[in-house]
Amino acid sequence: MNLELTEEQIAVRDAARDFAQQTLKPSIIERDNAQRFATEEIKELGVLGFMGMMVDEQYGGSGMDTMSYVLAMEELSKIDASVSVCVSVNNSLVCYGLQEFGTEEQKQKYLRPLAMGEKIGAFCLSEPEAGSDATSQATAAIDCGDHYLLNGTKNWITNGNSASTYLVIAQTDADKGHRGINALIVERDMPGLIVGAKEDKMGIRGSDTHTLMFQDVKVPKENRIGADGFGFKFAMKTLAGGRIGIAAQALGIASGALELALAYSKEREAFGKPIHKHQAIAFKLADMATQIEAARLLVWKAAALKDAGEDYDLASSMAKLYASEVAMTQTIEAVQVHGGYGFVKEYHVERLMRDAKITQIYEGTSEVQKIVISRSILSD
Ligand code: CAA
Repeated sequence: MNLELTEEQIAVRDAARDFAQQTLKPSIIERDNAQRFATEEIKELGVLGFMGMMVDEQYGGSGMDTMSYVLAMEELSKIDASVSVCVSVNNSLVCYGLQEFGTEEQKQKYLRPLAMGEKIGAFCLSEPEAGSDATSQATAAIDCGDHYLLNGTKNWITNGNSASTYLVIAQTDADKGHRGINALIVERDMPGLIVGAKEDKMGIRGSDTHTLMFQDVKVPKENRIGADGFGFKFAMKTLAGGRIGIAAQALGIASGALELALAYSKEREAFGKPIHKHQAIAFKLADMATQIEAARLLVWKAAALKDAGEDYDLASSMAKLYASEVAMTQTIEAVQVHGGYGFVKEYHVERLMRDAKITQIYEGTSEVQKIVISRSILSD
């Protein structure tokens, strides 16, 4: 794996860093407190090309590689994981899914505005009774000839209220199990789509997480992605890439916390010297930096495999599992380095600690990643 970044990748990383520092940071505490979705900031990210980073230019995207995407995700997530989850879902679940498996018409109609940041997408798999056990879809898409009739409830939907385009996974033929599941493109204004309550969350409070209800929504047949029964594989293939994005988010949360802890340890004095001159703090910082660098290498490896056109399912699950655990443990350490100041909002690390937790849960819990990893290493 080549660890040297190209000039273009460095430019993308720096642009994301500047945006995060200059545009996201000044309002992050207010948005987190108010649970306010960053509507204007996301629009700006769209104009800058961050909402369809890996989409071909012919469909309105930026035509970049996955490495550029993870670099941008790390920088945005150092400051604002609520914004970066919106970026991640739009890029690696919705845009990727449409670009890879959509028809030419679907790409022109739905992918182009999503890639240009004119619209936002959502990925609707989870249900009240189907989280990790994703094959147990209760949402039904009944085949009615020229359309599907969609009924059911989805929950924990990122971009639930701000999206215009929803990729919805639903069961068409229960007798066929996961082979009877379809993925449908649902438009926000299709009659019968009801956006339910917004979740009041511990972390990523600025992200727009809702329950969605589908009541007799008529979805035209041409809005099905792939062949009949491809929906579950569509979800799994798409999530494998999505996990690279969330791994990069977790990495950014952890490295953002490390940057804050390093700076604070040089400012804060105790017992007559800056606290980083105490070995208890210096060793803690050394452990944090080492684990974060290991997470970065796993994230970069998964991105490099995807860019090389090689299988990345195992690498993406390993990256997500490890980076999310590092995000959780190391943000706790960053709070500890800050002492009492780490416990108040002004110092930012408590938010990163709250935001870290979701990276161990969404796009597959740590336990789901262990299922994927153990099956892979145990297969003949
Ligand atoms: N690529 C292609 N096909 C795949 C695949 C992949 N990566 N993974 C599985 N499949 C196929 C299998 O080959 C199998 O097909 P065949 O029977 O034809 O061979 C089929 O899918 C079923 O696979 P499994 O038997 O492995 O299914 P399982 O029931 O044992 O579940 C699981 C496996 C890994 C636990 C899976 O259900 C899973 O990933 N669950 C977690 C779901 C998840 O991540 N949800 C997150 C919601 S989205 C989100 O969070 C977005 C957001 O808003 C932030």
